[in-house]
Amino acid sequence: PDKDGVRRFDLSMQAGRTPILPGKQTPTWGFNGAFLGPTLRADRGDKVEMAVRNRLPEVSTVHWHGMRLPARMDGGPHQPIEPGDTWTPHWTIDQPAATSWYHPHPHGATAQHVYRGLAGMFIIDDDLDLDLPSDYGVDDVPLILQDKRFAADGSFDGDPLKGTFGILGDHVLVNGSHNPHLNVTTERVRFRVLNGSNARMYTLGFADKRRFHVIATDGGLLGAPVEVEAFALTPGERAEIIVTFTPGEQVVLRSTDNGVDIGEGDFDLLKLIAAADLKPAPALPAHLAPLAAITAPAGAKVRRFKLSGHDAINGKPMDMARIDEVVPAGALEIWEIENNVYSHNFHIHEVAFQVLDMDGSAPPAYATGYKDTVYVPAKSVVRLAVQFGRFTDPVSPYMYHCHILRHEDSGMMGQFVIV
Ligand code: C2O
Ligand code: CU
Ligand code: CU
Repeated sequence: PDKDGVRRFDLSMQAGRTPILPGKQTPTWGFNGAFLGPTLRADRGDKVEMAVRNRLPEVSTVHWHGMRLPARMDGGPHQPIEPGDTWTPHWTIDQPAATSWYHPHPHGATAQHVYRGLAGMFIIDDDLDLDLPSDYGVDDVPLILQDKRFAADGSFDGDPLKGTFGILGDHVLVNGSHNPHLNVTTERVRFRVLNGSNARMYTLGFADKRRFHVIATDGGLLGAPVEVEAFALTPGERAEIIVTFTPGEQVVLRSTDNGVDIGEGDFDLLKLIAAADLKPAPALPAHLAPLAAITAPAGAKVRRFKLSGHDAINGKPMDMARIDEVVPAGALEIWEIENNVYSHNFHIHEVAFQVLDMDGSAPPAYATGYKDTVYVPAKSVVRLAVQFGRFTDPVSPYMYHCHILRHEDSGMMGQFVIV
């Protein structure tokens, strides 16, 4: 932060070219560079001030996905930035440590703008006294997963607004790289994984089926590490994992076909090459964050959302001029998401929620923490306990929507205000 305690960020949305495939240049969009964006980082309690300049030939917006903030700072479709203009939102970070992210949200063009490369991570730190790997880029490594299709000339191929899901790419990039590897130098590494894909879901694990620990999801740390062999991530979701390595080994992080429409296909994502000598790492803490359950009181308001086809919620396509739900400040509510068709997921701006059940069963242990985006499998009902914030604004809405961007853009989105 500056002397006045304010942390200032300058972001410039711009077009460029990126060498992704050998010998080819891909036209891409990025923040402060040709492709993707810098990892932003702030502490709980910081005042942040953003200056977001749009140097693109199209109107766009920048949404702080996972951030708890006033609706006018949220960067949804109601905060357009015209070409040449600069948008200057500001807020105070007041939420637990978490891996969140930022991406454009212009209504009808989010899929295209994200697909071209506009996305970055936004890490929130909190001074919890925990011995977790935290040397950025060394043993605390961001992994942004995005699938793409390439045309023969190296440009991104496919129309993110066509077909049932838009783009389901056949190449998965990690931090914008094709066929990447990472040299591991420590016994344990924390990966902050973001599914920044338009539609694809990943079932992530290692080629040798080693077990590892999930320590955080969208909204921050779990109460305790959860040991898994694999975990799933749908678009917009994040997870932090801790993986242990032995000297000299090599192992591949991969996504395996789960037979689900948006999760088909096996992909090798990242080759991990451990050094002959690894720096010792402290043991994984048995407890992480004090995770207070989000509990809706008896008689809490229940709202029901039916996802139909790919372009409507409760039978209505998104309408910028219609407020669908009015929520009292600080409310604790039950939101019930029903999906009668193929895969969707559901993201709610501003809030933290916990998954109560998925088709009557408890969610997997690693998905019991604070979240803002949840998988809603085909033909299922997912119930959420949702905690709303206290920034009131009767006219500026927040969004809830399917984070399969083709669906969001074609109208599977609604608006709520907090009053
Ligand atoms: Cu990440 Cu409304 O979106
Ligand atoms: Cu969001
Ligand atoms: Cu959807």
